[in-house]
Amino acid sequence: MDLVRRPEEMVRITTKELADKFIDEQINEVRSQVGDKKVLLALSGGVDSSVVAALLIKAIGKQLVCVHVNHGLMRKGESEQVIEVFRNQLDANLIYIDATDRFLDLLKDVAEPEKKRKIIGGEFIKVFDEEASKLEGISFLAQGTIYPDILESDGVKAHHNVGGLPEDMQFELVEPVKLLYKDEVRVVGKALGLPASMVDRQPFPGPGLGVRCLGAITRDRLEALREADAILREEFDKNGLNTKVWQYFIAVPDFKSVGVRDSKRYEGWPAIIRAVNTTDAMTATIEEIPYELLHTITNRITSEVEGINRVLLDLTPKPVGTIEWE
Ligand code: XMP
Repeated sequence: MDLVRRPEEMVRITTKELADKFIDEQINEVRSQVGDKKVLLALSGGVDSSVVAALLIKAIGKQLVCVHVNHGLMRKGESEQVIEVFRNQLDANLIYIDATDRFLDLLKDVAEPEKKRKIIGGEFIKVFDEEASKLEGISFLAQGTIYPDILESDGVKAHHNVGGLPEDMQFELVEPVKLLYKDEVRVVGKALGLPASMVDRQPFPGPGLGVRCLGAITRDRLEALREADAILREEFDKNGLNTKVWQYFIAVPDFKSVGVRDSKRYEGWPAIIRAVNTTDAMTATIEEIPYELLHTITNRITSEVEGINRVLLDLTPKPVGTIEWE
């Protein structure tokens, strides 16, 4: 990563006009950097890579090749949204790889959190690398590096990014949003016409649901987690909490408790709700969720999700609890 510094006089991008100006400048810059060569981008569907993709599609169209790797640990509907927005709406050159089986087979019986992260990160690079080597004439690699990534590159976040790519990839980098803060990336994304559900999304860890399906991941428990998480997100959206809470999700531990359903014994996993507010993810506070909504969420999850028979609420701030459970 280049050691660049944001110029002091650079205006914070807060309006559509400022965003449009930035977009025009970047289009010119990217075109003169890239010429008629091809650019490769790992498109996770997160805010940063999505905004870079939309910007580059505008600048160089089909010269951009996006690769979306579905590691099987995405939230419900996420990969589908990437395909819908980028392939169908923006007519991008998008390669979609469903690598679910590769990841889940490797993760089978692996319970240790850091080992799980390493496997996911390592396999991601492998899959991406394999795809890249099938393509011809790629000269550039685009990345959704943003300014905090540069500021924190020696710090906590360094080990976080699953998208860390092989050192020996001989590409020149294209990093059009590297001087922007997150809020500016969102304003630029909106100006580029990306849907709010993509631009305003909460942070989502690179290893995805892998660090929320606690312990050794099984397909049935992962599916239960994905469905329960989708219900939580839907209810937060409906009740306006999506704009008030910084990060909210479900974690599902790998133990069962006894319950009863349809007058029969029903053993199931608990779904743990975590909803936190923070500015920098270094510390976090607990967001109050109205009890009525908690009851609705509990009813929906326990009746709609196969395998879940209890819903719990995590009230632990950070410190002492980290935001994720693993
Ligand atoms: P913790 O759990 O350390 O999380 O309090 C702080 C923030 O970082 C996110 N997080 C990750 N992001 N890869 C990522 O890209 C990871 O392995 C990872 N682990 C935690 C977490 O979601 C929270 O926003």
